[in-house]
Amino acid sequence: MAKLIFDHNGEEIELDEDSPIAEACEEAGVPFACTEGVCGTCVIEIKSGKENLSPPTQEEEDFLGEGCRDERLACQCRIKNGNVRVSF
Ligand code: FES
Repeated sequence: MAKLIFDHNGEEIELDEDSPIAEACEEAGVPFACTEGVCGTCVIEIKSGKENLSPPTQEEEDFLGEGCRDERLACQCRIKNGNVRVSF
C-alpha cells in the first residue's frame, strides 16, 4: 500500500502500489489542464518520499529540467509504495 499525504492539511490518501496520483491530486485541489505532461499546470512539490515515485517521464524532464526531483507533474507520476508528502 502507498500513501499520498497533502502537506497543507495533512490529508492522507491510500493508493494501490504503482498507481497514478493524478486522480487523488485532482480531488485534493491540484489544477489540471492537458493531463499529458505538456502545460505544467499540475506541478506539485515533493516534500518527502520522492524516491517512492516513478522516475520522471520525458515530458517531466522537458518541462522541469533534467535532474529536478523536488517538483513533479502530477499527471505524469505514479506512486510505487511507501509515503509521499506533496504540496501545491
Ligand atoms: S496537466 Fe498539463 S502537465 Fe499535467
